[in-house]
Amino acid sequence: MSNQKPLWSTTTTISSHDKLLSDIECDVLVIGGGMAGILTAYFLSQNNVNTVLVEAASICSGQTAKTTAKITSQHGACYQQIEKKFSTSVARTYANATEKAIDEFDRLIFDNRIECDFVRLPSYLYSLKSTDTINKEFEFTRRCSINAELTTRTELPFSVKLALRYQNQAQFNPYPFISALCDYISIFENTRVKRVEGNIAFCDNAKIKAKKIVFATHYPIVNFPGMYFTRMHQSRSYVVAVKNAPALKSMYYCVDKGGLSFRSFRDYLLLSGCSHRTGEKCTEHDPYEHLLKQAREFYPQAFLCNNFSAQDCMSPDHLPYAGLYAESRPDWYVLTGFSKWGMTDSILGAKLVSDLILGNKNPLEKIMCPSRFNLSTVKPVLNEVGHSIKGLSKSAFRIPFYSLTDIKRGEAKIVMYGSHRCGVYRSDEGEIFAVSASCPHLGCALSWNANEKSWDCPCHGSRFSYTGELIDNPAQISLKRYT
Ligand SMILES: Cc1cc2nc3c(=O)[nH]c(=O)nc-3n(C[C@H](O)[C@H](O)[C@H](O)COP(=O)(O)OP(=O)(O)OC[C@H]3O[C@@H](n4cnc5c(N)ncnc54)[C@H](O)[C@@H]3O)c2cc1C
Ligand code: FES
Repeated sequence: MSNQKPLWSTTTTISSHDKLLSDIECDVLVIGGGMAGILTAYFLSQNNVNTVLVEAASICSGQTAKTTAKITSQHGACYQQIEKKFSTSVARTYANATEKAIDEFDRLIFDNRIECDFVRLPSYLYSLKSTDTINKEFEFTRRCSINAELTTRTELPFSVKLALRYQNQAQFNPYPFISALCDYISIFENTRVKRVEGNIAFCDNAKIKAKKIVFATHYPIVNFPGMYFTRMHQSRSYVVAVKNAPALKSMYYCVDKGGLSFRSFRDYLLLSGCSHRTGEKCTEHDPYEHLLKQAREFYPQAFLCNNFSAQDCMSPDHLPYAGLYAESRPDWYVLTGFSKWGMTDSILGAKLVSDLILGNKNPLEKIMCPSRFNLSTVKPVLNEVGHSIKGLSKSAFRIPFYSLTDIKRGEAKIVMYGSHRCGVYRSDEGEIFAVSASCPHLGCALSWNANEKSWDCPCHGSRFSYTGELIDNPAQISLKRYT
């Protein structure tokens, strides 16, 4: 497929920063230079807290680079779920906070005069199949004074059963936004935190001593305490950016399984969908080809410019985790579990964590608390544990093994190499790439992702290239390569 560079990075260059080469001390260390980490470091720095941010690769090189960047309080059909799992009051507090989060983006962009294609516009939830989910979400918006109305009229190239239009939402380009905030933050790039012990973070070439440490690494990088791997899974989605399609005046999100999301950016139209749990087969077809085919069916003149994919951490109760990393670590904080709504969730989480560090009250403290317990999440948590057990036992004995000669060009298989389980890929040119097929995070069996030519972990979503390089965490190291 065409240009796999995320669209936003083709519009703006974010200045680079040095690697950390000697030991330092600071009041707050923020680990991770995506939307969550940058906003947290920005808020703290604006409050004169001596803050340092370290990023393993470069700023905005993680999932934030590949977002569709809708800034919404419309988070799919989440509020009816939150209401069911918690209460109307919890769902209302969260919904009202996400509305304010849009205003907060607006304020930051206005105050800092950031040119990032920020525009206020409506966002629609729609269904092609049923009216139930949309009606339920509408009833919730009524109870919580959210400005939303039912309609069957949209600009979409097909008719919908029912839609819910949320007014005054927003969209932007995250690259220039993050680039502008970086000017106020002390940053080190190419500085991976390898481990954290108490108040010290150990990087490749240096140590950082900090009174407080914020983990904004997308997936938390410390397994114990916290055990976030029992409470989240990762889900991938795919995006195509086409030209020669009409510019939409609103954003759209489908509540049906396999439905499409739409937004425009300048003369591009972004279509996204084909979501699936990382490490599990999405569909029989290539997701990009499927999305492009749909785009061409709707707009026959459309042609592909960019395609990219990303994944996010899905919490079992539709609320993000932001606050203390674990009760036993009073100086550690975490931001994660944004369930694909990480723009408004990042700003809410960043504000909350900054407030906790600054000693301010915040109405979301209990709602987003990472150690919250809810009976309704027991089943999903057991489900996650079941997935891990399945992944681990598969690693031990259940898969069929092949010999090298069974592997055709462009294919990958699991092969035994001595007592090691190897993932072997034969390139289109015939070259063989053999890597360990056990995930370095917690040892689950990796699966081959034929569409993206990567080894993906079905347990918690780590991903590796066919040459073994780490692409996505929670794993922190690359795969062992057999040559
Ligand atoms: C296809 C798709 C579309 C989406 N569209 C939207 C949308 O329209 N609106 C919306 O609100 N949300 C959307 N989301 C969700 C949103 O993009 C994410 O929730 C958000 O970008 C996550 O930001 P983050 O800062 O947590 O993670 P990241 O951007 O991944 O940042 C984490 C950073 O931490 C760094 N890091 C990791 N480990 C270490 C370490 N050990 N040391 C140092 N640094 C480390 C990584 O390199 C990375 O740069 C979408 C998600 C997907 C999958
Ligand atoms: S075992 Fe956890 S991501 Fe692979």
